[in-house]
Amino acid sequence: MPDLFSPFTLKDVTLRNRIGMSPMTMYHSVDGKMDDYHLMYLGARAAGGFGLVIPEQVAIAPDGRTSVHCAGIWEDAQVEGHARVTAMIKKMGGVAGIQLGHTGRNGSEQPPWAGWGQISPDEPDGWQVRGPSDIPYGAPKRPFPVHPLSVEEIQQLHRQYADAARRAADAGYEWLEMHFAHGYLASSFFSPLANQRQDAYGGSLENRARFLLEALDAVRAVWPERLPLTMRLGSDDFHPDGVQFDEAVTAIGWMAEHGLDMADVSQGGNTDDMRDPIWNDPSAWVARAARVKREVGIPVATSWNLGVPANADAAVRSGDLDLVLLGRPALANPHWPVWAARELGHPEPFRLLPPDTAFWLENFRGHGPSIGWPEPAGVPAPNTVAEEAERITLAADSVPVPSVGAGD
Ligand SMILES: Cc1cc2nc3c(=O)[nH]c(=O)nc-3n(C[C@H](O)[C@H](O)[C@H](O)COP(=O)(O)O)c2cc1C
Repeated sequence: MPDLFSPFTLKDVTLRNRIGMSPMTMYHSVDGKMDDYHLMYLGARAAGGFGLVIPEQVAIAPDGRTSVHCAGIWEDAQVEGHARVTAMIKKMGGVAGIQLGHTGRNGSEQPPWAGWGQISPDEPDGWQVRGPSDIPYGAPKRPFPVHPLSVEEIQQLHRQYADAARRAADAGYEWLEMHFAHGYLASSFFSPLANQRQDAYGGSLENRARFLLEALDAVRAVWPERLPLTMRLGSDDFHPDGVQFDEAVTAIGWMAEHGLDMADVSQGGNTDDMRDPIWNDPSAWVARAARVKREVGIPVATSWNLGVPANADAAVRSGDLDLVLLGRPALANPHWPVWAARELGHPEPFRLLPPDTAFWLENFRGHGPSIGWPEPAGVPAPNTVAEEAERITLAADSVPVPSVGAGD
């Protein structure tokens, strides 16, 4: 049975372990581009041992961003910034994933540290938000009127999904997750709380899933078959009139028939009026992800409160999860995989890192076994200076220094 540190292969892509960085919107883009900030922040997580690094929800259209400071891939000029990031992640031994999305009625926002409110379409940095129906998310958070999308506008959005996926492949991404969760556009089509359309895109479960399936088809048609296509679904609104998890399982089954390679389950996010949400529970979504795996028969991932190494490892060892996605733990500790490996007694924790870093940490250990991480239980006493000098000499004589990433 695999554990957290076992490689994971999906289609033609192999992750070096089962630890992925979950997408997190960082509000650091200008004109939707990725720049040195993203290179540093994302490169650090790949250098820290994450097998998969997914930057953030990347918008397929300018009005699909959370704020004007968010990343996009709606035009060719944005590809170069992404390509620098994917090359760095690859050089550090990781796989670069992209999360494609559109924020729908939940866009046009201020960054959290500027108030987190929605900006009126009449104000600078604000825009007219669009969604399935003319139902705002609600005051005080997101009070502004929503333009209900016409069928022509829906078809245009699906073309933009496909164009964005083509650019993502050009930029070097090797893993694509569609963002169908958290109250954004696709999630709001899926939810009766936001979608009260009377046409083929509203009403029955089949109709509410139509926007998502058509977006998936549009991307599947252009995204290379050899690369994983995954999806994060808003699979429960925790509201009696919203998305129910049973519906999510059915819809994921349909998506699997349309070429979905993996499901990542998360919350609906279509209302603040949630009844008994589970999102603060440890390993909150693992049992639900496992149900999708059992009933639909495709690999599954999830995030939410898996930052305790033993819990993350148990979710993989039990077979419940194929891949653990970490949000806040990845922000807190770019070297979370090595820390977790040491905590769990992995015999070669530094082997999770790029080979040159691993070489130094294995053969040139400085003043003791801790070297910057908390010491795991039961470590031997630090070497004396003389012992350490002898060990370094022996190591330098016997181990070739690996070259890292040259030319790849
Ligand atoms: C700052 C921040 C930004 C986030 N942005 C996104 C996003 O762009 N797309 C997404 O699907 N989830 C987003 N999330 C949710 C995370 O991907 C993750 O699912 C969530 O934090 C739960 O995982 P955790 O308990 O490991 O933090 C964000 C979370 C944080 C903390």
